[in-house]
Amino acid sequence: MKFPRRSFLRMLILAPAVRLVLSSLGLTALASWLWLRVETLAQPSQPSYRRGGRIQLPMPELSGVITLEQALASRRSIREYRSEPITVRELAQLLWSAYGITETRWGFKTTPSAGATYPLEIYAVVRNVEGLEPGAYRYLPHSHELEQTRAGELNQELYSAALEQEWVLKAQLNIVITAVYSRTTRRYGERGVRYVFMEAGHACQNVYLQATALGLGAVAIGAFNDDEIARIVGAGEEEHAIYMIALGRPVKQYRITLEELSSYYTARRLTSS
Ligand SMILES: Cc1cc2nc3c(=O)[nH]c(=O)nc-3n(C[C@H](O)[C@H](O)[C@H](O)COP(=O)(O)O)c2cc1C
Repeated sequence: MKFPRRSFLRMLILAPAVRLVLSSLGLTALASWLWLRVETLAQPSQPSYRRGGRIQLPMPELSGVITLEQALASRRSIREYRSEPITVRELAQLLWSAYGITETRWGFKTTPSAGATYPLEIYAVVRNVEGLEPGAYRYLPHSHELEQTRAGELNQELYSAALEQEWVLKAQLNIVITAVYSRTTRRYGERGVRYVFMEAGHACQNVYLQATALGLGAVAIGAFNDDEIARIVGAGEEEHAIYMIALGRPVKQYRITLEELSSYYTARRLTSS
C-alpha cells in the first residue's frame, strides 16, 4: 500500500500532540506505538522493510566522497572480495546508479535510453547483504523498491551458468541486466537491438563507477548462458539476459597516481627533435 505524502506530513505534525493526549489519558502503550510508527516512516534510510510484499530501499545519496575524476581513475575490474557483507544502503545506491530515476516529470533515468524506451530490467541476486535474505530481487526504478522473484542462495547456480567464474560464486551481490528488446525495436526496428546493448553498457559503467565511489569492487560479466541466467533470476518470458556485474568488498583497491600517468604519456609522446 502506498502512503500519500500529504497524509504522512500531516501525521508527522499531529503525532506529538496526539501522543501527548494519549499519554495523559493513560494510554501510554498506544502513544509509544504511534510514535514508533511515525519515526519508522520518517526514516527512509533504515534498512529495508516490507509493505505489500515489496521492499523499500533507502533513498539514494546525491553526493559522495570522491570526485568523478577519482572514480574514473580508480575504476578497475575487481575479482577478489573479502567476506564482509554489503549494506542495504550500498545496494540501494548501486541499483539507483544502474537505472534509478533522475527526473520526475517523465521518469528519466541515470542511464541514457534511445527514445527513452527503457528496455532494461535490473535484478539484484543477493548472497550477503545486511538485512536482506538471499534471493533474486527485481529493482522497481519508479518506487525505488525491490520485489523478490526467487528465494534462497543462487550464487552456485549463477556460477554454473557463468562458465564457473570464481568471482560470480564469491560475490556478495550479482547484478543482472535483462532486456525486453521489443520496447526499443517497436520504435527503431532491428537497429533497436544495438541501442539496447549500448544502454546496458551505460548502466554497467554507472555501476562500476558507483561501486568505485563506495569503495566496492565490481567486474562486468558477459560470458554466460543467457537462458540459464534469465531463469535463475526469475525473469519474465519477454526478457533476455544480456549483462551481469559481480560485486563485493575488494581485497585490494586500485589506485593510480598522476605521476604514473604522466610518465606513461610522456614515454609515448613524440619528442620534438
Ligand atoms: C562486454 C564485457 C564483457 C566482459 N565479460 C567478462 C567476463 O565474463 N568475466 C570477467 O572476468 N571479466 C569480464 N569483463 C571484464 C574485462 O575483462 C575487463 O574490463 C578488462 O580486462 C579490462 O580491465 P578493467 O575493467 O580493469 O579496465 C568484461 C568486460 C566487458 C566490457
